[in-house]
Amino acid sequence: MARTMWDSSVGKKTVMAVSGLIMLLYLVAHVIGNLKIFFGAGEFNHYAHWLRTVGEPFMHYEWTLWLIRIVLVVAVVAHATSAYQLSRRDIRARPSKYVHKKPRASYATRTMRWGGIILGLFIVWHILDLTTGTVHSGGFQEGHPYQNVVDTFSTWYGDVIYIVAMLALGLHIRHGFWSAAQTLGVGSRTRERALRATADVLALLLTAGFIAVPVGVMTGVVS
Ligand code: HEM
Repeated sequence: MARTMWDSSVGKKTVMAVSGLIMLLYLVAHVIGNLKIFFGAGEFNHYAHWLRTVGEPFMHYEWTLWLIRIVLVVAVVAHATSAYQLSRRDIRARPSKYVHKKPRASYATRTMRWGGIILGLFIVWHILDLTTGTVHSGGFQEGHPYQNVVDTFSTWYGDVIYIVAMLALGLHIRHGFWSAAQTLGVGSRTRERALRATADVLALLLTAGFIAVPVGVMTGVVS
């Protein structure tokens, strides 16, 4: 049953929609957390510490955080795998196999594909930058994310990488949210406008919220 579902295009689209919505929930929480940077180092670092102790004493130190990390990794892998397989299927199904010129994928398909690749690379960079500190520009300090974020956005390439990725994120969510609604059967002709508006507002709020942090550092509001 699960096998047949996974093999079907509808099954893969459902996996994409559900994993996408899980990541979207995470991003809503992440952007709210990030905005605490405007209330100073104390509040931001305190919040980062809470992320590690949440659920105690039922959970041990970092258990909840690891649970979230596992769910996110599963979601990212499921999302990318089904996207790749759907796009292979799409290419194979094209009728123009014997024609030299390949038909161009639609604008939406191309932005989703490239946006997805940019976001995948960004997530790897971002974790190496602000979680492990491997590619961090300043002296990375474990437990002091406020200073680490300020260091990242004090370099021109830090600003460029994050802002470009956040714009890609906005476009990806705008189209992805709407697609997910269609796949999950929430979409209808009457709801089309409302769904498109929700997707636009969500994408705009998330992009603006995330970009506010590098802009805050660049303008000296956060230092
Ligand atoms: C300007 C935008 C962003 C800023 C300033 C930012 C900041 C941070 C910081 C400071 C951490 C480390 C938290 C800690 O160790 O306590 C972190 C972790 C993380 N961020 Fe972001 N983030 C941004 C955008 C994003 C976006 C767009 C995504 C996803 C597409 C994302 C995904 C993650 C993930 C997966 C982690 C690792 C969580 C963990 O396992 O500890 N972030 N972020």
